[in-house]
Amino acid sequence: MNIRKNVIHAAVLTMAMAASASVSAATVEVLHWWTSGGEAHSVAELKKLLESQGDTWKDVAVAGGGGDNASTVLKSRIVSGSLPTAAQIKGPSIQEWGEQGVLADLSDTAKAGNWDALLPPVVSNVMKYRGKYVAVPVNVHRVNWMWVNPAAFKKAGVEIPKTWDEFPAAADKLQKAGITPVAHGGQPWQDFTLFESIVLGIGGPEFYQKAFVKLDQPSLKSTTMEKAFDTLRMVRRYIDKDAANRDWNLATATIINGKAAMQFMGDWAKGEFTAAGKVPGKDYLCLPALGTDNAFTFNIDSLVMFKQSSTDGKKAIKDLSTAVMSPQFQEVFNLNKGSIPARLDVSLAKFDDCAKRASEDFVATSKSGTLVPSAAHKMAMSEAISGGMQDVVTQFFNSPSMTSKAASEGLAAAARNNY
Ligand code: BGC
Repeated sequence: MNIRKNVIHAAVLTMAMAASASVSAATVEVLHWWTSGGEAHSVAELKKLLESQGDTWKDVAVAGGGGDNASTVLKSRIVSGSLPTAAQIKGPSIQEWGEQGVLADLSDTAKAGNWDALLPPVVSNVMKYRGKYVAVPVNVHRVNWMWVNPAAFKKAGVEIPKTWDEFPAAADKLQKAGITPVAHGGQPWQDFTLFESIVLGIGGPEFYQKAFVKLDQPSLKSTTMEKAFDTLRMVRRYIDKDAANRDWNLATATIINGKAAMQFMGDWAKGEFTAAGKVPGKDYLCLPALGTDNAFTFNIDSLVMFKQSSTDGKKAIKDLSTAVMSPQFQEVFNLNKGSIPARLDVSLAKFDDCAKRASEDFVATSKSGTLVPSAAHKMAMSEAISGGMQDVVTQFFNSPSMTSKAASEGLAAAARNNY
């Protein structure tokens, strides 16, 4: 993480000294990257809930899908000694932050709220550092989705492809009808998001696990991985020329307005359809990314709490943790966000069919062993390794002369963390 321990200890000390003695309402400062339409609606619900309890919400929203910008801002705030109450941090990174000694111990609140019984282990394990809760989950996102505008397919007179083999013929017809086959934004995390769904579809969940979780060198360098890169190059042909650096939600907007036909993106995209008043099954479809029907790539958003020594700070952590875990919040946040509640006991009565399918598949794949962590969304490996892999995927995406073999070897080198 490149942050020296003594800097962090100094930061925590400064905060402790600056703290006021006792206050009745707490200031809850949260650093996150929820800035698109659907995301902003979701986070507004958290603000509302805390304010209704008398707390003050201090919003630190850092634009940039996938969170790379937010991560940079958070690291600089640590160095300058001004940690927020909480930050959106996910997956194995939570362990890296735990090692820095800056995270709060939420054991008391977790025990009182019975979190262990309410959360599936695949979620609660990620929230703990050395067996103690340090983070609170807000949701479970599914990444391996394909968002479809059915009217675009109708206009082109072609069926929605069911496999990667069927894909080019369908995409050619869409293109002939003046429709962009694939909505995409050329940003490294979006390239990697598309690529991980291709890897899952081409190689299957077992191969995906070997490559992205076990970081198995032969799998990373295999012909299966090369085939996944070949497929990425094929899909690249069907992305419009203005895609470079387009934000993901603007890509989703082209599905909403019918200019494009398909987007490979996690279900935060559904938050955009919802915000635009669109109805699943009618205006748009949520289908598992090609070849991934029986698998589920999970991406759990969580708020990690930082150690506080003031009464105000401690209250802020407690209020925020309790609010996030409440069934009321888990329902309303996820209705807007496109994800499903992290708590398995929250009713899905108000949720749409995409969320119901995600929930059923989440439970089924956790039993069948085909529930896998998202590599592109930093759930599968350390930030350093996933960053290295992301660089390789983006380089391949933007360099027509780079071979699939060289890219696969690049992934293997990134896994050795010496790329
Ligand atoms: C986060 C989502 C967010 C998406 C786009 C993902 O990494 O988990 O909450 O909506 O990035 O910014």
